[in-house]
Amino acid sequence: MICVISKKFILEDLKKNLTEERFLHTLGVMETAVTLAQRYGVDEEKAELAAMVHDCAKDIPVAEQLNLVREFGILLDEISRLEKALIHAPLGAVLARKRYGIEDPGILRAVCVHTTGDENMTTLDKVVFLADYIEPGRNFPGVEKLRKVALEDLDEAVIMACNSTIKYVLEQGKLLHPRMVQARNSLLLEKLKRGEVNGKSN
Ligand SMILES: [Fe+2]
Ligand SMILES: [Fe+2]
Repeated sequence: MICVISKKFILEDLKKNLTEERFLHTLGVMETAVTLAQRYGVDEEKAELAAMVHDCAKDIPVAEQLNLVREFGILLDEISRLEKALIHAPLGAVLARKRYGIEDPGILRAVCVHTTGDENMTTLDKVVFLADYIEPGRNFPGVEKLRKVALEDLDEAVIMACNSTIKYVLEQGKLLHPRMVQARNSLLLEKLKRGEVNGKSN
């Protein structure tokens, strides 16, 4: 058993605490995470649970999120403090442990890095990161291609998702979190070392 609190309880609690739209997104991420977990040999239960709680802190008002960050002693880097949409990921990992009794470090890490990615992502990290990006409710130019690549080459799909987010962040003139660049570069480097890179990831 990877969680002492039942999934049913967690889902009911999330339904109460998330907007309807976010709750539907969460269900979509769970479905996609399980599909990707099956495809890439990741523990399905862990993938489903990580997906279930990945946005558990997202609908908490920002001022309250910042209070909780202080209360729990979460160390936020400067960019995460300024780009407030990033706070819910590390905060969500702590809430998943405190509120839902999830202790598995792999699940908590996947929740923590689901917005920015990170260097040396585990397969579970990649599954949750991508599921968040391509769940059935997502609709953006290129999502169909990304869904297809996700089933063929997980690393390539994560690189594509990073590229697209990086482009978006630059276009918006927002702060780009270095972890996303590190995530993208580390996967690209691994591909280079394996001789798989054709320089066309986009
Ligand atoms: Fe999120
Ligand atoms: Fe999400």
